[in-house]
Amino acid sequence: MCGIVGYIGPRAADEVVVAGLRRLEYRGYDSAGVAVVHDGEVTWRKRSGKIARLAETMTAVPLPSSGLGIGHTRWATHGAPTDANSHPHVVGRVAVVHNGIIENHEQLRENLVAEGAEFASETDSEVAAHLLARELATGATLTEAFRRVVQQLEGAFTLVAIDSNDADRVVAARRNSPLVVGIGEGEMFLASDVSAFIEYTREAMELGQDQLVELTRDGAVVTQLDGAPAETSRFHVDWDLSAAQKQGYDWFMRKEIFEQPKAVADTLLGRLNNRGEIQLDELRISPELLRRINKIVIVACGTAYYAGLVAKYAIEHWVRVPCEVEVASEFRYRDPIVDPMTLVVTISQSGETADTLMAIRHAREQHAKVVAICNTNGASIPRESDAVIYTHAGPEIGVASTKGFTTQLAACYLLGLYLAQVRGMKYGDEIAAILAELQRMPELIQQLLDRQQNVLELAVEMQAEPSVLFLGRHVGFPVALEGALKLKELAYIHAEGFPAGELKHGPIALISQDLPVFVVVPPKSRDQLHDKVVSNIAEIAARGAKVVVLADAADEQARKHASVFIELPTTSTLLQPLVAIIPLQLFACEIATLRGHDVDQPRNLAKSVTVE
Ligand code: G6P
Repeated sequence: MCGIVGYIGPRAADEVVVAGLRRLEYRGYDSAGVAVVHDGEVTWRKRSGKIARLAETMTAVPLPSSGLGIGHTRWATHGAPTDANSHPHVVGRVAVVHNGIIENHEQLRENLVAEGAEFASETDSEVAAHLLARELATGATLTEAFRRVVQQLEGAFTLVAIDSNDADRVVAARRNSPLVVGIGEGEMFLASDVSAFIEYTREAMELGQDQLVELTRDGAVVTQLDGAPAETSRFHVDWDLSAAQKQGYDWFMRKEIFEQPKAVADTLLGRLNNRGEIQLDELRISPELLRRINKIVIVACGTAYYAGLVAKYAIEHWVRVPCEVEVASEFRYRDPIVDPMTLVVTISQSGETADTLMAIRHAREQHAKVVAICNTNGASIPRESDAVIYTHAGPEIGVASTKGFTTQLAACYLLGLYLAQVRGMKYGDEIAAILAELQRMPELIQQLLDRQQNVLELAVEMQAEPSVLFLGRHVGFPVALEGALKLKELAYIHAEGFPAGELKHGPIALISQDLPVFVVVPPKSRDQLHDKVVSNIAEIAARGAKVVVLADAADEQARKHASVFIELPTTSTLLQPLVAIIPLQLFACEIATLRGHDVDQPRNLAKSVTVE
């Protein structure tokens, strides 16, 4: 939610900041702005709409040359996406950009207005600019004044400020919102995530909760908000600029769909020790403790939540421990039963989702151990968890998650197998057999991607559909939910996912020749699951609906009733989601493209939702 960039150094600050904002645009894209300090003055440009509009303005009316600048791309919370509500907010000597929500903004605003302040926007953020201008007027340095301001703020913020009287400094602070420092030679960067400065440096430093950073050309001084010294940790980013570029694809999303064989392989890489046992290096929770837990609760949002639903089936089957899955925004508000014997597993691509973060805090207050499955090194969620399993998928920039989902699935399977191993629920050879199948999945995903033509043709045929149903059973049910979510998010087509068995309890009333239905069919196995789903397909076909069937290529029973048959490679039931979701991702991406939508930045959405 909102992207922030700051720069100090020898380059043209406006160019560095705009380039950074373009890479952060996935975080919010309803308005953008840049401010620089030049000749003792703050100068700025800001525009509603995407960064391309801001860039047009900056070409028409260029900013003066400067080596010090800040910028912002917004996802509106307080106030519509107008020019006036765009950041930076400039008051007197200062310019401020903000990500998050200042919860006590009304009270602060009232006080400021009573003192004579005039507000130019409806945002909560503008109070910070007024407060800073007021503190600077007392003669305080920028850093000191800024420290006093952030101590008055409640809620979530990444706040960055510059002062026209101080061309040697950018100051910033964070609470519950992300901020990383990029370390160059004679230049320093600030951003919501490293992709904003990856073009210039791969050396970075995480900022902890409630920390303040003062950036000069030569370095960064980090302290706690109250001025106490702070510990920081540096890290090297293990991917480069090419990973943050489209590389010939029309959309980041399509590129990320095609990256899945490698991304899933990278998640699985190096997880076995030389005795052939699973070893999760980052899982810093002792096997003794993992043997004692009596319940697992998975908490996540959106696509990550659906990955969690798949994980429940695998974990309960392999580990024989009860496993609940819950949407993070519901979790802490219903007084969940969580205690020191509960293992809470959170799943988050970005590692910054506020709902998930708050769920972690609640779980830890109840003394539960928390394991995060996350893609973003050093993000808030892994920092605040007891342990983390990184998915190593590389940056995911398209707002709709794709490789995020499949790598989360891979990490969940690994966690499930690891728990089965330490709790002695499976023999080594059983675990080895499942792992061997997991290792083959990247190749199977590649096979599907190599024959995507029928899915693209189906998208052409179905591009005008107003509504689509998705059905699945067992782990096919979360796949149906995720397929429906992708279509809603990208194509703005009404879509719903149901458990196939529930069809007869209600949704069947909707079935007619006007409502196409996708059905994910499980592989044939020892139970009756497959045959039951095939019966559901027959029931739908009998009512004249178009049925798009996704099933094992050799499944002649399922093929018989299908209007369109999408062949899946042969897998076991539990691992099928890793392949079944691929055609559904491609379908949504293609149909949205055909409908003329911005696939990477769907309307109203943001990739990293840092407000509750
Ligand atoms: C947003 C995104 C979704 C994502 C969800 C959870 O809603 O638009 O694509 O699945 O957040 O994000 P996370 O980063 O926690 O996985």
